[in-house]
Amino acid sequence: MANGILVTGGAGYIGSHVVRQLGDAGERVVTLDNLSTGFAAAVTHGELIVGDTGDRELVQKVLAEHEIDTIMHFAAHTIVPESVSDPLKYYRNNTCATRNLLQCASEAGVKHIVFSSTAAVYGMPPGGIAREDSPNAPINPYGTSKLMSEWMLRDLAAAGGPRYVALRYFNVAGSDPEGRIGQSTPQATLLIKVAAEVATGKREALTIFGTDYDTPDGTGVRDYIHVEDLATAHLDALAWLRDGGASQVLNCGYGHGYSVREVVQAFERITGEPLQVREAERRAGDPPTLVADARRIRELFGWTPQHDDLDRIVSSSLAWERAPKYGR
Ligand code: UD1
Repeated sequence: MANGILVTGGAGYIGSHVVRQLGDAGERVVTLDNLSTGFAAAVTHGELIVGDTGDRELVQKVLAEHEIDTIMHFAAHTIVPESVSDPLKYYRNNTCATRNLLQCASEAGVKHIVFSSTAAVYGMPPGGIAREDSPNAPINPYGTSKLMSEWMLRDLAAAGGPRYVALRYFNVAGSDPEGRIGQSTPQATLLIKVAAEVATGKREALTIFGTDYDTPDGTGVRDYIHVEDLATAHLDALAWLRDGGASQVLNCGYGHGYSVREVVQAFERITGEPLQVREAERRAGDPPTLVADARRIRELFGWTPQHDDLDRIVSSSLAWERAPKYGR
C-alpha cells in the first residue's frame, strides 16, 4: 500500500493535469493545495486536503496517513513581475515551503520527488537556447526561488535523501483536450492565456511587448509546450525513479519556438477573426528568444510528445476559455 503520491498544488493549472493523468493510470493520489490560486473542482482524482506545504504538522500527518512514497511538488507562486515587487513572498512560499516539505519527506522516508522547476533558472542564455548544463543565471526572484529548491533537492539526495527529477518547464500552454480541466489562473500574464481572453471578449486587446527584437519578425520567440505533454513527462519521471533511475534535472520543451506574431496568427486562423493587438515597448526582463535544448528528456525517458502543434495548443486554450468548468 505504501505507494501513495502526494501532489502539492494539485488544484492548480499544471498540477491538476498531472493528477488527472495519474488518476487515469490507476495511481493512488492525494492533493495538498491551499486554494490560493487553485480550484477544488480541478482535482479530478483522490482526496483534496486544503492546506499549506509550509505547514509542518499537516504535511507530516498527510505523509504518514496516506503512506506516501512519492511527492510531486507544484505548489508555488508563479507570477514573475510580482516576484520582483514582493521577493520575500516568493522565497517564503516557494523556497521556505519547499524546505519544510523536504524536511518532512526526509523524516518520513519518502523515496521519490518530482519537482516543478522552470526555464527561468537560465535567465538569458547565449543564443536563446538553454541546455541543462547552461549556466544558472536567473534574472528574477521567481527563478531564484525555484533554483534554490533545486539545490536543496540536490544536496539532500547527495546526503541520502529522496531521489528526484526536477523538470524545467518552458512556456506551458493549452488545456485538457477533453475540456474537463484547464487554465483558470487569476490575473494571467502569459501570452496564450491572455490572447485566449482577448479572443473570447474577456479583454480588449493583446499588447505585443516589443517588435524590434533580433528575431525573424521582431517579436519574442518562445518554446510553447502543451500542458498534456508536460503532464506525461511527470509520469515518465515517476517510472524512471521507480525503476531506480538516478536523480535528474531536465528541460521540458519541444526544442523549437514561435514568435508572438505567429501565436497571434494561430488565433486568427482558428477563430477566423482578427485578434485585437497593440504594439508596445519591450517588457523589462524579456529575452528575445528562449528555446529548450530538449534532447535529454527524450533520450532518457523516451518521452514522446503527442501535442507538438501550435494550433492544437491554441485550440484547446480557446475551448477552455469559451467554456471553463471553474474560474471565469
Ligand atoms: C514567463 C516568465 C518565466 C516563467 C514563465 C512561466 C518573464 C520574464 N518570464 O515566461 O520566467 O518561467 O513565464 O511562468 O516573466 N508577450 C506579449 N504580450 C503579453 C504577454 C506576453 O507580447 O501580453 C510576449 C512576451 O514578451 C514574450 C512571449 O510573449 O516574448 C511569452 O511571454 P509570457 O507568456 O509572459 O512568458 P515568458 O515571459 O516567456
